[in-house]
Amino acid sequence: MRFLPLEEITEQMLLAHSIFSNNGKILLKKRTRLTPSYIKRLQHLKYTHLYVYESDEEQWDCTGLVSDKVRSQAMQILWDCLIRVIERKTLNAQQISFVVEDIIREVHQKEDGLFALIDLKTPDNYLYNHSLNVCILSILIGKELKLEWEDLKELAIGAFLHDLGKVYMKSSLKKIQTFSTSDTAQVKQHPKKGFEILRAVPGFTIKIANIAYQHHERENGSGYPLGLISRDIIPLSKIVAVADSFDAMISERIYREPVWTEQALRELEAESPAQYDREVVKALRRSVALYPVGSIVQLSDQQSAVVVEATKAKTIVEYLESRGSFQEIDADSPLKIEKRLA
Ligand SMILES: [Fe+2]
Repeated sequence: MRFLPLEEITEQMLLAHSIFSNNGKILLKKRTRLTPSYIKRLQHLKYTHLYVYESDEEQWDCTGLVSDKVRSQAMQILWDCLIRVIERKTLNAQQISFVVEDIIREVHQKEDGLFALIDLKTPDNYLYNHSLNVCILSILIGKELKLEWEDLKELAIGAFLHDLGKVYMKSSLKKIQTFSTSDTAQVKQHPKKGFEILRAVPGFTIKIANIAYQHHERENGSGYPLGLISRDIIPLSKIVAVADSFDAMISERIYREPVWTEQALRELEAESPAQYDREVVKALRRSVALYPVGSIVQLSDQQSAVVVEATKAKTIVEYLESRGSFQEIDADSPLKIEKRLA
């Protein structure tokens, strides 16, 4: 299994994960053979990299912590939420709660599970994948911090819908990341807009609405829209703030390159406790894989290898020089990963 730029993908390769449209329909199924016409279509959809299998026999999983079924439902529901907001209809709290409960259950099932895939966002699906990623990361952090089920549920709903207020921004939903400077004032308003939408949903608690309101507030008061300081920010929102910043850092955006996990964690650590809650950042470090699936690493035996599985207990790598030869690396193995190369 490899994580490759589109230009390096050949016709013998199979897609190692499904590709979804923004409303949750499967556009290309996992294990589809990547013909030139599919590659062209994916280029058109602005994908730059994909996870691929180099042969039919490969089984490594690139689905992540949430199954295709739940991912598809979550995207459908987010799509539906955005449309309802535009049409000024109330959101369906029950529908949202059900899918979020499914996400929590799946994340919980994988006890050893880490956030371990390299980002695959495109400019067009950014909001959808970002919302789901922030939800998954927040659940992982909440689990580390031993939150009770009810708190975890409010956290996950707030995280999933934290950017809903962006619906009102002038830049179209599709081009959600191509902000011009004139959009800056609108950007600063999205937490409040999100709060207003969520506060009006029957069945949602005020905490859920406050997560959206406060996810850009920072511990030292340097955030927006209110410039609240630590003691005035609700704890669940501090989790979403960290998850949101981390996911934004590891994503490729039009105006900058993505950073690798270690650098993103170090930047967040450097900014805590000034901007981020220190315990939350520590919990994030325990929740994400330093060497995500598909990354190329240098081992202590000086060979290079591709990571094919990454959990809390172990990392499994495949040597690049001798394909089909695998190594399990855990805390006790003499073999270590020295650094990420790509
Ligand atoms: Fe935001």
